[in-house]
Amino acid sequence: MSEQLTVIVLAAGGGTRMKSKTPKVLHRIGGRSMIGHVLAAVGTLEPTRVVTVVGHQRELVAPHVSELLPEAVLAVQEDQLGTGHAVRIALEALEGPPTAGTVLIAYGDTPLLAGETLRAFAASHRAADAAVSILSGIVANPHGYGRIVRDEAGIVQAIVEEKDASPEQRTIREINSGILAFDAAFLADAIGRIGNDNAKGEYYLTDAIGLARTADLTVAAHAVDDALQTEGANDRVQLAELGRELNRRTVTRWMSEGVTVMDPATTWIDADVVLAQDVTILPGTQLLGATVVAEDAVVGPDTTLEDCEIGAGARVVRTHGQLAVIGAGANVGPFAYLRPGTLLGAGGKIGTFVETKNATIADGAKVPHLSYVGDAEIGEGANIGAGTIFANYDGVNKHRTRVGRHAKTGSNNTFVAPVDIGDGASTGGGTVVRRDVPAGALAVSGGPQRNLPGWVSNRRAGTAQADAAGEQSENGRGLGTDPSEQAES
Ligand code: UD1
Ligand code: CA
Repeated sequence: MSEQLTVIVLAAGGGTRMKSKTPKVLHRIGGRSMIGHVLAAVGTLEPTRVVTVVGHQRELVAPHVSELLPEAVLAVQEDQLGTGHAVRIALEALEGPPTAGTVLIAYGDTPLLAGETLRAFAASHRAADAAVSILSGIVANPHGYGRIVRDEAGIVQAIVEEKDASPEQRTIREINSGILAFDAAFLADAIGRIGNDNAKGEYYLTDAIGLARTADLTVAAHAVDDALQTEGANDRVQLAELGRELNRRTVTRWMSEGVTVMDPATTWIDADVVLAQDVTILPGTQLLGATVVAEDAVVGPDTTLEDCEIGAGARVVRTHGQLAVIGAGANVGPFAYLRPGTLLGAGGKIGTFVETKNATIADGAKVPHLSYVGDAEIGEGANIGAGTIFANYDGVNKHRTRVGRHAKTGSNNTFVAPVDIGDGASTGGGTVVRRDVPAGALAVSGGPQRNLPGWVSNRRAGTAQADAAGEQSENGRGLGTDPSEQAES
């Protein structure tokens, strides 16, 4: 039977250096808030209970935590009197504070923290049978961190905070990452005995280490070799640095899973994106949110997809998409704008300079050029002519248009919704469809073309246009009476 594990995430601090109305732990990288990354890592431990300590801007932090982890207990720390005080409040917020098992402490602003690291740390803590274990790190610049003080035998004696450290202690490069694991019974006893008689006048959780040693209990330190995992982002420069590093790790992970990424430096993949083997991502591509890309699809260059689903073997070029589903083998772009509710069937096409919204375009159906398709249902195998507008909005309400299976509509059409174009129907070039078209019918609209001969030489005499017209007329061409000259593509 697995022992009890309580995780306390500290997130009450201010984060003034962000200079933001958004609380520090809610700043996002890789498609999640910083605290979202921490809670995801914590979740992989399958803890018995999770407590999050909120304080500063808790009206924003608390709902966010509850949304991500509804079962998390929220402990409110009105004034931030130190990490020891925060942990005391967390324990008090629990009905029946833990007296057995492990209590793990993490911070809400370390987005690179991996679940594996926490799992290995918790396992070493249990194996060492320690009262306290420290996830430590050896860093080049230990400034600002609590230093791990060891005796001649190498046994950890205390953590001394920067402001309280002697000049000699300040040279120690082994630091406290902030992540600590406690024997629950020891913590329950020690937490009330931590005072605030120190340089900052704060209750230091790290004083628990000295208390354990005084009682001759075991204190263990496990060094994390990947120091960035416990690094916090205090300002926007650090946020961007951690964001880039997180992305580098995500892109590297997908490449090792069999995804081709032509240019990792310009490819951004959010933490929750899922890619299949043999997906190819071309430069300048951002895959965001819950985007899923199936096998052999090629995405990019210069494409942003947020919460999209791309089918196997599909091709998506220079496209901006949100909440769209693209079928297997379909073609999208270049220069397509897929808005929410776009569903493109297998082998379909949403082509160049096409905007779609709330539109189902069935298997094999094509909207190849220069069109707006809103609130529409296009049947299987249908083809929509170049430059077609689905006029879905009458100024007050939105209406739907249905185009039947294998219908072929002409160029430069306007479909004034609500309207229904039957299966296998056709429309002529320039048709404004205001009434339903029966299956198999050809719809045309507008009056016959009228030509006013000589209009240019009369009204625009002396212009290059008039000269050109005159020259062609003299050559006996271009009278415009032969209908075969009126091309329609
Ligand atoms: C703390 C550690 C230090 C360690 C460093 C690692 C203590 C006394 N010191 O120092 O040994 O090297 O982290 O980054 O623990 N918080 C609260 N409530 C509070 C105070 C802090 O929730 O009253 C939260 C903060 O939001 C933050 C975390 O605890 O997420 C750490 O607090 P911070 O003030 O940054 O501690 P440091 O002085 O950096
Ligand atoms: Ca800090």
